[in-house]
Amino acid sequence: MSDLAKQINKRRTFAIISHPDAGKTTLTEKFLLYGGQINLAGSVKGKATARHAVSDWMDIEKERGISVTSSVMQFEYDGFCINILDTPGHQDFSEDTYRTLMAADSAVMVIDGAKGVEPQTRKLFKVCGRRGIPVFTFINKMDRDARDTFELVDEIEKELGIATCPINWPIGSGKDFKGVYDRTTKEIVEFADTFKGTKEGTETRIKLDDEAASTAAIGEDARELLLSEIELLDGASEAFDQEKVNKGKLSPVFFGSALTNFGVEIFLEYFLKMTIPPLARVSNEGVIDPIDKNFSAFVFKIQANMNKAHRDRIAFMRICSGKFEGGMDVYHVQGAKQVRLLQPQQMMADDRHVVKEAYAGDIIGVFDPGIYSIGDTICTPPDKFAYAGIPTFAPEHFARVRQVDTMKRKQFVKGIEQIAQEGAIQIFQESNYGMEEIIVGVVGVLQFEVLEYRLKSEYNVDIILEKLPYEFIRWIKDTNTDLDTINGTSDMKKVRDLKGRPLLLFVNSWSIGMTLDRNEGLELEEYSEN
Ligand code: G4P
Repeated sequence: MSDLAKQINKRRTFAIISHPDAGKTTLTEKFLLYGGQINLAGSVKGKATARHAVSDWMDIEKERGISVTSSVMQFEYDGFCINILDTPGHQDFSEDTYRTLMAADSAVMVIDGAKGVEPQTRKLFKVCGRRGIPVFTFINKMDRDARDTFELVDEIEKELGIATCPINWPIGSGKDFKGVYDRTTKEIVEFADTFKGTKEGTETRIKLDDEAASTAAIGEDARELLLSEIELLDGASEAFDQEKVNKGKLSPVFFGSALTNFGVEIFLEYFLKMTIPPLARVSNEGVIDPIDKNFSAFVFKIQANMNKAHRDRIAFMRICSGKFEGGMDVYHVQGAKQVRLLQPQQMMADDRHVVKEAYAGDIIGVFDPGIYSIGDTICTPPDKFAYAGIPTFAPEHFARVRQVDTMKRKQFVKGIEQIAQEGAIQIFQESNYGMEEIIVGVVGVLQFEVLEYRLKSEYNVDIILEKLPYEFIRWIKDTNTDLDTINGTSDMKKVRDLKGRPLLLFVNSWSIGMTLDRNEGLELEEYSEN
């Protein structure tokens, strides 16, 4: 195998998705611990910043220049080179959270054992589901009282529409948590919370068949219950099937407690065996093999520098094929120009460092003088293909925005358009108005404040922002539809996006159904593919 193939085949690039507080940060910390990146868990950024109020968040963003809302953690473990993509969660949940998923090859879904599937998990899962990438489930906080295990697994299947295959099974929960049963090796892995935050200590494994030893370990009642649950599970659950996992049709399920570092190592080991190396990506010239010797990448996120003295930006690229080398000349397909990738950087928790080389599967951040847009492709000349674009995700919060000082209309329009181009917000115009009033849509409400802050600090424009009650957006499939002909509900709004496409905003899902009923042949889409 060539060196290029070796490097690429050992890469595993995944995102961790969860609802806030399920334990994503804690689990990430434990992963890094196994990678030897940190001595004591507890130093992953995200968490500290997540706890800050909105105003602090701005300052943090300014201080650090870029990377608060996006980072990639890379580490080596057991011969693999692992890239964990951080999906912004708490207050900074935004379209970037979704876009990050476009750069991952698989996802780890963390679920709180006491809570089950929560709204944010559902939203993020939907994006993974649409891409058909493998999704692994880690049911966390088993050291606390959890819901019935069968019920939890059933909920994942029903609510998310994916089959599940428990790889291990918990023995009790809360103060009765005794460990997990490894269905592959038929062993009990005994719970111990003695190695919090360190990677020392081995987990004791006992064969379930060894009646005396296993009874001594977990007690007779727990063993009896476990035996009956396994029987039920063996009869009812889907068998492990790697093909189905690869296609995102079957989610391997694991149980553990990230806080006490229990079940994390077992998870990591199975996960690395079951997940996939960098995926081949589809371009307009067919599928591109990651091991192709020619470098190619696409931009999945653009981060504006909050330093107003330099209106520069960082474009985050996912390398899809070949090898990247510092100072490389590449072809920017959408800009139809040869460019040099300047100051490529890689993020590691809080640090940024200059990358000398990187491979398919890796993420690099490059200095962007304002030439890149989300979804753009970069290739090695003479290649000129373009990767499939990144969809526009449906905003869920809307506001009408106008400038306080009408004399500043020009700056206002310029600023808001630029920020929209970066993909931080989406802007819409009411079908009969010009740019005096703009409707802004965002995925996470924090983006409104970011908009207000940036217009003030970078463009010197004060705005008035009036929140609107819409929660649902639908693109009209036939873009030639005359909006005036649509007979909707009275609380519906007709708008157009930056590309002039017609859309409808709704207050509730009932109005969507009503509008569909009233307009025969009307087709609405929840997101836009380009
Ligand atoms: P997030 O990134 O998904 O938002 O969750 P995070 O890891 O920050 O965890 C949220 C809270 O849940 C934290 O407690 C964390 O310590 C706790 N937690 C995470 N995993 C486990 C687990 O396996 N068992 C138990 N019992 N708790 C867990 P906190 O009190 O909010 O923060 P802290 O004071 O512990 O830092």
